[in-house]
Amino acid sequence: KCERKPSGCPFAFHNPPQRQNCKIIIQNSILQFWKQLGEKAQRDFFDKLKNYRRDETMKIGMLTSGGDCQGLNAALRGVAKALYQEFGTAVTIYGIRDGYRGLIEGDYHPMEPQDFSDILTRGGTILGTSRQPFKTMQQAEENEATKLEKMLDTCRRARFDCLVILGGNGTHKTANLLSEHGIPVVTLPKTIDNDLWGTQVTFGFQSAMNIAVEVIDSIHSTAFSHSRVFIVEIMGHKAGWLTLHAGIASGADVIVIPEIPYDARAIAAAIQQRARGGKRFSIVAVAEGAISREEAAMSKKDFKAARAAMPYPSISYRLADELQKITSQEIRVTIPGHFQRGGAPCAADRLLCTRLGVAAAELIREGKFGNMVAVQNDRIVPVPLKEVAGRLKTVPVDGELVHAARELGLCMGD
Ligand code: F6P
Repeated sequence: KCERKPSGCPFAFHNPPQRQNCKIIIQNSILQFWKQLGEKAQRDFFDKLKNYRRDETMKIGMLTSGGDCQGLNAALRGVAKALYQEFGTAVTIYGIRDGYRGLIEGDYHPMEPQDFSDILTRGGTILGTSRQPFKTMQQAEENEATKLEKMLDTCRRARFDCLVILGGNGTHKTANLLSEHGIPVVTLPKTIDNDLWGTQVTFGFQSAMNIAVEVIDSIHSTAFSHSRVFIVEIMGHKAGWLTLHAGIASGADVIVIPEIPYDARAIAAAIQQRARGGKRFSIVAVAEGAISREEAAMSKKDFKAARAAMPYPSISYRLADELQKITSQEIRVTIPGHFQRGGAPCAADRLLCTRLGVAAAELIREGKFGNMVAVQNDRIVPVPLKEVAGRLKTVPVDGELVHAARELGLCMGD
């Protein structure tokens, strides 16, 4: 305190020469106090100063990995908003760029609350994404740390208190690996394929389904006009959820999914039967991962070789050829492709992403790491990562939806 004005702020009331005197007096007092502290207390003080922000602020790293889809931004927003609501300025969120690539290369940046504003409806991901195959994570590179080691190093150096990871099947295998190596992880289930084990539904699926339905709806009128058979190829390599749901919702006549190996003659018979019944057209919804009966009987190696030698750009073109030969009907192929993953999330996905985001923030608050937030019996629940990792959720061939399709008289390709 200033000796001349013990109460109130001395600097504010003195003119410059006196102020200088006050400063010197104060500096001397601080120096005196500092010396009296002793070496240990001085060291403690510096340590505290150094770690001040780190101790006081919770650090959350967020990344989106694998194929993008609608709702990624909505989910990031859900997590962030709930965290800011709970912890205010005591939490710092770091955006890790391009999925695991950013974690491997230490490419991350602090984000502000306003970064999560106005992104509820935006397609894609504001963080960027990339595919980093799980099998490469622990591969030793010459004189170099593995990707896993690099990711662990980034987490250590960044002092992340938790990683929030949004992704599908491959992403979850790596998330589980990180969790097994002691990193606190919470994940959210993303994929238009809906093939992630442990959750009734993944976000992105319902938006992609709406797009696929719109495509098949539109194809109806042109197919009718020209009396054509149309094949619409829907995304989904390993699981047929999207094709099955979109096919039923849009009134497709044949639905071909990877879980039910197809027989071209059975599909052709269904098309011919429709034509005999006076139907001018037929629509065949085919999953990109559809396989024939012959292929289903092959070993994995033979199947790979057969597909590598297949002279068609995709399975739909081969099926079109097969059907044309049997039916002599004009066949056209439409492939909406990545269109199915683009644009704004539908209302159902916005809602789902927000619920999942809030639940993820709650898991962080409660310290319940190593879990994916999932939908079970229409409720959001945590599911241990070790149960999710490496397990695919495929369409049950004797399930209710396949049964419903058959009851409607649809051909399931077999
Ligand atoms: O996993 C989602 C998905 O869209 C699949 O349906 C599709 O097989 C695959 O990604 C396409 O991957 P990419 O965008 O790398 O071509």
